[in-house]
Amino acid sequence: MSYYVVQGGQTLRGSVPISGAKNSVLPILAATLLNGGRNVLHNCPDLRDVRSAIQILEHLGCKVSREGDTVTVDSTVVDRWDVPHELMREMRSSVIFLGPILARCGRARLSLPGGCDIGQRPIDLHLSALRKLGAVIREQGGDILCEASDLQGRDIILSFPSVGATENTLLTATACGGVTRIINAAREPEITDLQEFLRKAGALVLGGGESAITVSGSTPRRDVEHTILPDRIEAATFLCAAAACGGEVTLTGAEPEHVGTVIQCLRDAGCTVRSAGRTITLLAPKRLGSMPTVRTMPYPGFPTDSQAPLMAAACTAQGSALFIETIFENRFRHAAELQRMGADIRISGRTALVTGRQLHGARVRSTDLRGGAALVVAALAAQGESRVEALTHIDRGYEHFAEKLIALGASIRRVDD
Ligand code: UD1
Repeated sequence: MSYYVVQGGQTLRGSVPISGAKNSVLPILAATLLNGGRNVLHNCPDLRDVRSAIQILEHLGCKVSREGDTVTVDSTVVDRWDVPHELMREMRSSVIFLGPILARCGRARLSLPGGCDIGQRPIDLHLSALRKLGAVIREQGGDILCEASDLQGRDIILSFPSVGATENTLLTATACGGVTRIINAAREPEITDLQEFLRKAGALVLGGGESAITVSGSTPRRDVEHTILPDRIEAATFLCAAAACGGEVTLTGAEPEHVGTVIQCLRDAGCTVRSAGRTITLLAPKRLGSMPTVRTMPYPGFPTDSQAPLMAAACTAQGSALFIETIFENRFRHAAELQRMGADIRISGRTALVTGRQLHGARVRSTDLRGGAALVVAALAAQGESRVEALTHIDRGYEHFAEKLIALGASIRRVDD
């Protein structure tokens, strides 16, 4: 089992490069199935989830290679249409392959990803949208079997702006005859990045980043070269770490606009934040002050993925902060671990009231990807030594996490037993 040993209390100073966005590269890797050609993707982080997505592409018949942060996918040959159970289990978001496999092969077989540590994560919105586009879907022994001989575009109204359902619908719609309109679509920057990729491949897509996306069916056939957008959740995590530890940190290769809500909370808590082009500099006060209520919302609201790291910072502040989690029903599991470090957090349903105080080192366990990152943020700000266990979660979404923190002056060491 791998764990970090963190010696808390060091101020963070210096600059850190932000990697490409995990949540952007995953749907784009799935989308490379569509064009039956060569796709060159720059700024691809080397993460466990990205490796899982590459394994799925290889299983389906694609040829994939990596050189530095550039991943090349040749999807000329796709001779399978199933995603095996082991790969589905490895990464729940592999359901994003459903739409592209269906669009490319006319059929798909995936096992159901099952529940998750942050909530149930159903895929009913994905399935009902695909059914409306003409897919015939059966569930059999834990597998979903999809067939589509005649996909037809039409209006798809999502009852919630689900990121994954928007992406799956958008990807399937490229193979539909006629026009598909996705109404109440998710507006996350990762959707805009996917649209950009699809347009380069020759798809006719408009409206990415807005609530209505229009896809005029025309199979994307062009080779693509594309650079993945910066990871706004990784950027927010480093901002929270800098805010909690004090000091001055500059993020390079980041997109300030995409972390606007997180920056606002940190400014309210006393940080000075300046941005220019693709850099963001945060100067932390000696101790953070209180922040206004943090309510997670679909983009452009406060991201649910940044709730845990910001809560870790709030645990060290002078004053209190109220967190309301509206997206996932079980996303406060890190709170019990933060309490082991002395955090004062009171939870009632989807609300957590945090009263800041000095944290102390403790042995804690990552509960999920962002919850794990939050424990590292708290351990960095705590007095004394902490051990953060179950790094498999953190490895899914943070590239060179410890190395980047060490470059900022943190005392953190990885142990792989
Ligand atoms: C994506 C992100 C994840 C982020 C989340 C919300 C990726 C790979 N993951 O996940 O990091 O936390 O967006 O910003 O991009 N829902 C349904 N039925 C469905 C689909 C979703 O009820 O068919 C519900 C979910 O249970 C959840 C809410 O909708 O309560 C939001 O989920 P969704 O936006 O779909 O998140 P993901 O795409 O899974």
